[in-house]
Amino acid sequence: MQVNKVVVWEAFDAADPMTQAAGQLYEQTLAPEERIPWYWIEKSVASRTKSKPGKADGWTKHLLLAAPEDRADDPTGLAGYVYGALIPNYAGYLCYIGVANWARRLGVGTRLFDQFYRQMSVDAGELGSQLPFVIWESHRPAPGAPAAEWDLWAARTKLFDRAGGMWVEGVDFWSPNFASDDETGDPVPLQLFVKPMAESAGEFDADRLRAVVAGLHREVYHNEPGSDLYDRTLPAGCNPRLVPAKLAGLPVKATK
Ligand SMILES: CC(C)(COP(=O)(O)OP(=O)(O)OC[C@H]1O[C@@H](n2cnc3c(N)ncnc32)[C@H](O)[C@@H]1OP(=O)(O)O)[C@@H](O)C(=O)NCCC(=O)NCCS
Repeated sequence: MQVNKVVVWEAFDAADPMTQAAGQLYEQTLAPEERIPWYWIEKSVASRTKSKPGKADGWTKHLLLAAPEDRADDPTGLAGYVYGALIPNYAGYLCYIGVANWARRLGVGTRLFDQFYRQMSVDAGELGSQLPFVIWESHRPAPGAPAAEWDLWAARTKLFDRAGGMWVEGVDFWSPNFASDDETGDPVPLQLFVKPMAESAGEFDADRLRAVVAGLHREVYHNEPGSDLYDRTLPAGCNPRLVPAKLAGLPVKATK
């Protein structure tokens, strides 16, 4: 399919039909246990014009939208979205990304990653700091999962690879299950991906990666050493390695 130049911009109005289209895409493309309620994201969009660096909970949250340049006001033209935040003194955190079915495999996902990295660099600049890396999580299907889930995982890991992401091999990041209202459902194991920014990939040795993983538990999930999810994620002898993201698709898939 031929698509005109894709533009990416930040949503500032939760009631805008383009923002609402992003909400529908979000709910259609992510499993319930992978996502927070959309209205939490709407709330951060609504407060965006009032947020200033270093205020509130300290996170600068952004919802970025993508569409062909001649369809930026057409909800059926929404090509994709990305949502995430700068976490001060830690990193950029990419929470969710989704591309409409009709716009897939055209580079929209890659474009959204790229623009998100730029946004995070700007946010870090506002605080007078550098952006060491951007991090995100993704749920790898269980070995016996249906082929459709493995196809999606393959698409994700290829996209992450194309976007310069690296996989934190050797860590299952245990996170709360958002599908249950009180988060008491079975915890979900996630794979972690890192895009080195001001820090080079070579600087992410095992010690640094353990600190990166611990930081994610601390900053996002408020888990400290001694809590169940933290200790399951970083057991004694855990030896993480940063490898190309495409390798994340391989080993478990082979035993499917
Ligand atoms: C994963 C997703 C965001 C990819 O978006 P996209 O716009 O199609 O990605 P791009 O066009 O930028 O493709 C990037 C790379 O991934 C590959 N890729 C994308 N979709 C693929 C698929 N279905 N199968 C195999 N490879 C795929 C592309 O070929 C490309 O690599 P290449 O050009 O080097 O071959 C999209 O499929 C999606 O929204 N899925 C549902 C939501 C989701 O899973 N979000 C991620 C949550 S972590």
